[in-house]
Amino acid sequence: MTHTLSPPIPRERFDMPPEVLWLSHCKDGPLPRISADVVRDLLETELRPWDLRWSEDFLDVQRGLREAGAALLGARAEDMSLVTCTSTGLEAVALGYPWQHGDEVVIPLGEFPSNRLPWLALARRGVTCTEVPLWDGQAATPVRAPHAGIDAEQRLLDAIGPRTRIVAVSWVRYQDGIRLDLAKLACGCRERGVHLVVDGIQGAGTVAASLDGVSAFATGGHKGLLGLQGQGLLWTDSAFRQQLTPLGTWLSAPDDFSQSGTQKPNLETWAQDGRRLEAGSPSILSCAALAASIRLLLDCGGAATIHAHIARLQRLLLSALEADARWAAEAARWKGLIDADKAGSTLCFALPSRMSERLVQMAEAQGIRTSTREGYLRVAFHGWHDAGDVERCAAWLLSPDGA
Ligand SMILES: Cc1ncc(COP(=O)(O)O)c(C=O)c1O
Repeated sequence: MTHTLSPPIPRERFDMPPEVLWLSHCKDGPLPRISADVVRDLLETELRPWDLRWSEDFLDVQRGLREAGAALLGARAEDMSLVTCTSTGLEAVALGYPWQHGDEVVIPLGEFPSNRLPWLALARRGVTCTEVPLWDGQAATPVRAPHAGIDAEQRLLDAIGPRTRIVAVSWVRYQDGIRLDLAKLACGCRERGVHLVVDGIQGAGTVAASLDGVSAFATGGHKGLLGLQGQGLLWTDSAFRQQLTPLGTWLSAPDDFSQSGTQKPNLETWAQDGRRLEAGSPSILSCAALAASIRLLLDCGGAATIHAHIARLQRLLLSALEADARWAAEAARWKGLIDADKAGSTLCFALPSRMSERLVQMAEAQGIRTSTREGYLRVAFHGWHDAGDVERCAAWLLSPDGA
């Protein structure tokens, strides 16, 4: 293996000691140094509020985050709303949609609770939430891991019935790592008069998004986007947004009621843009951190560049693993998934549980930070990893003690 893959995000941008190999941004992304600096500067205004500049230190920070988020997603800034996390973004849709008794929402089986509980809670309003297995064997015990031949999107489209109003999916799944084809789903949903709502947190920042035909896309900022916990983004299609009950309050008035302090009776109560769905005062520190992190991702080539780099690292790792009998099947399964364009940034290996447990223990001892979910061992690459990291990862996974 050679060290030729130069990472789009220089490692020095993080406070990452050489002994640490962080393969867990699917759990929590590291904050870049620049974002920490921005937070420190802004924290000074909390110590001395008399120095706070209302526009630069408050309104512009929020505006800057909407603009950076939009640039990364290939969207318009006016369609972005600042939310605390993925869950609140999805809740804005679940609680705000004009449901009728008897309506249905379709979600995949095995969604993270953020994209499950808001829909299940609608039972009180007479809305059914149907959970659809995405491949044969997904509901079996033990679960059969997904492979390149699955057609998860078609399974979801086939489950749409006459009362289905929304299909809500994770773009990239947190446990098995499968990435759904949003373009195919969006097209099928549109043909059937159904809205597609996306939990994007496991793809945002590491895969280029296509929001064409999507109605809403929510993401927390603390994984691939490298922000702080407690700050996320919600993108909504403007026509869809007008159907939702507005959640916004004082900062969401059309003429910045916050500025004048007077609500003019002849104006609309809520803005038409994404602020319509924003609550009151945001955590300005978290907004500033996320904006700086997203700008760094953009400066380093954006999500498409980062995704291409990650795919190269993944292939390199899988090539190292495939010759080993213990890994041959999983390496082939993941190569197939990457070839079929069904992978995100996390390789989720389905291993015998003893092997997985032993590998996690060994990783800890070697400074390799990884994670397991629902029986899968997760190895998440990002834009700062290089071929040396892959080599270290391969040595860990191939260790004779890991069997
Ligand atoms: C698919 C998915 N959705 C949502 C979340 C987190 O949601 P929130 O941003 O609301 O904390 C996670 C966290 O692991 C996740 O993997």
